[in-house]
Amino acid sequence: MLRTKNCGELRKENVGETVALCGWVSKVRNLGALVFIDLRDRYGVTQLSLTPEMYEKYHLRSEYCLRVEGEVILRSSPNKEMDTGEIEIDVKDINVFSSSANPPFIIADKTDALEDTRLKMRYLDLRRPILQKNLQIRAKTVSSMREYLEENGFLEIETPTLIKSTPEGARDYLVPSRLKPGTFYALPQSPQIYKQLLMIAGMDKYYQVARCYRDEDLRADRQPEFTQIDVEMSFVEREDVLLVIQGMLKKAFKDVLNVDLKDFARLTYAECISKYGSDKPDLRYTLYLHDLDEIFKNSTFALFNNVHIKGFKVDGYAEHCSRKMQDEDARLLSDYHLHAPLYIKKLNGELTGSVIKNLSQEEIDSLVKEFELKDNDVLVLDFNSDYENLSLGLGALRKTYASRANLIDENVYEPLFVLDWPIFGRENGEIVSLSNPFTRPKDEHVKYLYEDPTKALSYAYDTVINGIELSSGSLRIYDAKVQERIFELLNLSEEEIKAKFGFFVDALKYGTPPHGGFAFGLDRLVMIFAHTDNIREVIAFPKNLQAACPMAQAPSKVDDSALKILHIKTVDEEKDE
Ligand code: AMO
Repeated sequence: MLRTKNCGELRKENVGETVALCGWVSKVRNLGALVFIDLRDRYGVTQLSLTPEMYEKYHLRSEYCLRVEGEVILRSSPNKEMDTGEIEIDVKDINVFSSSANPPFIIADKTDALEDTRLKMRYLDLRRPILQKNLQIRAKTVSSMREYLEENGFLEIETPTLIKSTPEGARDYLVPSRLKPGTFYALPQSPQIYKQLLMIAGMDKYYQVARCYRDEDLRADRQPEFTQIDVEMSFVEREDVLLVIQGMLKKAFKDVLNVDLKDFARLTYAECISKYGSDKPDLRYTLYLHDLDEIFKNSTFALFNNVHIKGFKVDGYAEHCSRKMQDEDARLLSDYHLHAPLYIKKLNGELTGSVIKNLSQEEIDSLVKEFELKDNDVLVLDFNSDYENLSLGLGALRKTYASRANLIDENVYEPLFVLDWPIFGRENGEIVSLSNPFTRPKDEHVKYLYEDPTKALSYAYDTVINGIELSSGSLRIYDAKVQERIFELLNLSEEEIKAKFGFFVDALKYGTPPHGGFAFGLDRLVMIFAHTDNIREVIAFPKNLQAACPMAQAPSKVDDSALKILHIKTVDEEKDE
């Protein structure tokens, strides 16, 4: 037997046993008379105690892979930080499986290596305990969710990854067809259309741990290929689906973090925008945005004419709200094309702020009452003719003040369903779609599709925890007439509809059941569980911010012969110009 124990399991109770361990040399401390080595594997670290002769004989260095045999003995000075800190192995025999070149960075949780260097040698990076832990959390999350879905009668069904492009809003990754020159498959942005087809096919309850591909600009929480826990159900109302989402997440939080997640709060999209200035509000802190139009409706202050005015209060923060912060605030709001904020502080019983002189006593009294202003509180106000934009700008500022004022408790989880999303918006007078074309309008709002589509709200729902969008979904249209009207509003001609998703529209005509579903961003959920805001820390082999893999050097050029088979010629941009 190569090993009898792993490097994370030996305790005081094992003292006296002879054991065999396998792992990698993590740390060497040469004290002259004795040499201590930390041996690491996926389960933990165990201290080995060697004679200097043994150490010299095997030339042990960092990341050598070995097997040791020896006796478990009590440590003279235990290490409380380590699970195995009470014991060590008095090594009798060593077998070096393989030596290691000197690694270019230290294999430890704390590292100052550049991320691209780490990604280039990801197999070494993944030896770091923190990444080993993150991948274990990921596996546990998937298995918990599978368990929930299996227990509730969902069937795991795979859908194709070489597909016709589906309308999900991002750019597709395309794959050329060899057999049909000049044509392309798309990699799925999500299994959306296929899971709906499975409902039409009578599969009733479907799920899939689905890889999705989107060619979009990357951020800390986005990858070009990512994983969804994708679910669809038939004969359901919105409430049925919400209960499945809530049940799955409660189980995952319990299984992975041992946290009892509370029942999910519910807010409409409109409430989220007006009160939090975000469609994914973080409910761990208040700092509510207040609508102040009523207070200033008769204002003589020129800047307050014909605009919406909103603001929030930061308790006890007046003295901390510095000039430098205010400059940063102005920069942040300029991204939203908003005026720099106006501040009102209450200090030693006095109200201060450059805007005060422009306000009537009645307006000031109403403000103080609205916000229940106390000494050392500060009000942050702004105004704009576009209500949503004003709310979003102040929403971003609300987040900034929450972290400045230390209002965020990292150990609290605030789950939320965001409901009643608009289906259409207006841009430069034109109707634009805000959701996927299969999202079902609320029954009582179908009439707006014919009157004013921007008023129509849908049965869509997002799940948000601590300001992070974890899943989105909706009930789907199953009435061909409503579907046709939506396409009409999207200005799609009959040919375009046929070309883009003719097969799907045809399928809708054959007895479609009422259905709905959702998809969790698995990577994002694991980010919450692993307490990281970098998605690359929860994926074994992620892409960097240029959507490239520095290790395998993908994407890469291919041989001309490979292109020829595919009937593809590449154009050298520079020569072309
Ligand atoms: P949506 O596009 O909102 O919905 O995606 C669902 C969830 O997937 C995650 N996600 C991502 N995670 C990492 N990197 C990305 N580039 C990325 N894009 C999305 C998010 C998001 O909430 N078919 C619909 C779902 C449905 O209606 O059933 C869909 O794909 O956590």
